[in-house]
Amino acid sequence: MSDSPGATTTVASAYDLIGGAPSVREAVDRLYTYLLADEQLADYFDGIDLPRLKSHMVALLTHVLGGPTGYPVENLGPAHARLNISTADYQRVAQYAAGVLFELHVPMDIILQVGQVLASVQPLIVAEPAAA
Ligand code: HEM
Repeated sequence: MSDSPGATTTVASAYDLIGGAPSVREAVDRLYTYLLADEQLADYFDGIDLPRLKSHMVALLTHVLGGPTGYPVENLGPAHARLNISTADYQRVAQYAAGVLFELHVPMDIILQVGQVLASVQPLIVAEPAAA
């Protein structure tokens, strides 16, 4: 069977599929609960304005999932530059992010898509050691 030519086809975004704004907000709240409870990561967040950080992460995740808010991905470089983040710590955060989505029953294909986006911004976030 094929679509009739005049039919309106609505493709639900991953954002809608997972439950929209409340789900994204819950995912971000849980993510920072885990990050701040992890002694390997907590120090990075010392003195950080958490509500502001969460609202930016909500915007980014909404953007990545095809939802209504945009986030300028190029801001990720300057935002993380002074933090000197290692690859290991980057991976730890990315794993928490995937874990939180899994906890919230986000379908695996969407988790993998988000993971690909996170992997694509890794070079903006991780400080590579200077070549000797
Ligand atoms: C996994 C990929 C990551 C994503 C998608 C991400 C996303 C973000 C976003 C959207 C912001 C807000 C930037 C802005 O103000 O516009 C931010 C800031 C921040 N991120 Fe990340 N982040 C990631 C990894 C990490 C890692 C690995 C760490 C440390 C272990 C980290 C620590 C921070 C801190 C401390 C800030 C606040 C910087 C400041 O306000 O001075 N992030 N991040």
